[in-house]
Amino acid sequence: MKIKSAEFEISAVRPGQWPDDGLPEFAFVGRSNVGKSSLLNRLLGRKSLARVSQKPGKTQQINFFRINEQFRFADLPGYGYAAVSKADRARFAKMMETYLTSREPLVRVFQLVDIRHPPMPMDIEVNEWMRRNGLAVTVVATKLDKVGKSHQAKAVRLIRTEMNKPESIRPVSSEKGQGIDELWSEIETLVAT
Ligand code: GTP
Ligand code: MG
Repeated sequence: MKIKSAEFEISAVRPGQWPDDGLPEFAFVGRSNVGKSSLLNRLLGRKSLARVSQKPGKTQQINFFRINEQFRFADLPGYGYAAVSKADRARFAKMMETYLTSREPLVRVFQLVDIRHPPMPMDIEVNEWMRRNGLAVTVVATKLDKVGKSHQAKAVRLIRTEMNKPESIRPVSSEKGQGIDELWSEIETLVAT
């Protein structure tokens, strides 16, 4: 995909602020620190269009990015981050639930999990919930550069069984770029249909 334009549009705290021109949209969800913002930046070839931080829980709103005037990425707040207050966590969960169940132009959800670890109970729960709600989900296994080649297939297999055989799992590295072209192909196909 040739990126002709990629712009940050809005950091939305409520549905009234969501862009409403109906461009097809792809959402990125996953635990705090799993690499959502990094993946977005890598896909768009920008160093810091989406904010990346060592500290989890940085993205607290839904951040919308418009690409090529053709489609949109939504960077969702990370779930399951223990160090934010209970009230904040409940607020994020509610925001995510509202978004995922009511966002009409949403084409596909990319759910990110860290390839180094078995999926957490929260990852499995969110995955089951999304599938129950009829959402199309691709599981993206991040930080591929952090596992040795000999462990990669095994790590993917573990994610596949733990997450109840998702439609597809894509290993990627935002650091080194592995899997990025393949992910773009999927997005391109979906934008075209
Ligand atoms: P929240 O906004 O807090 O939910 O986090 P996030 O999911 O957006 O994660 P973010 O992209 O901010 O990345 C968290 C940390 O993981 C940063 O220190 C990144 O540099 C690192 N990271 C992300 N992707 C990769 C990757 O593919 N490889 C490696 N080695 N590190 C990565
Ligand atoms: Mg983020």
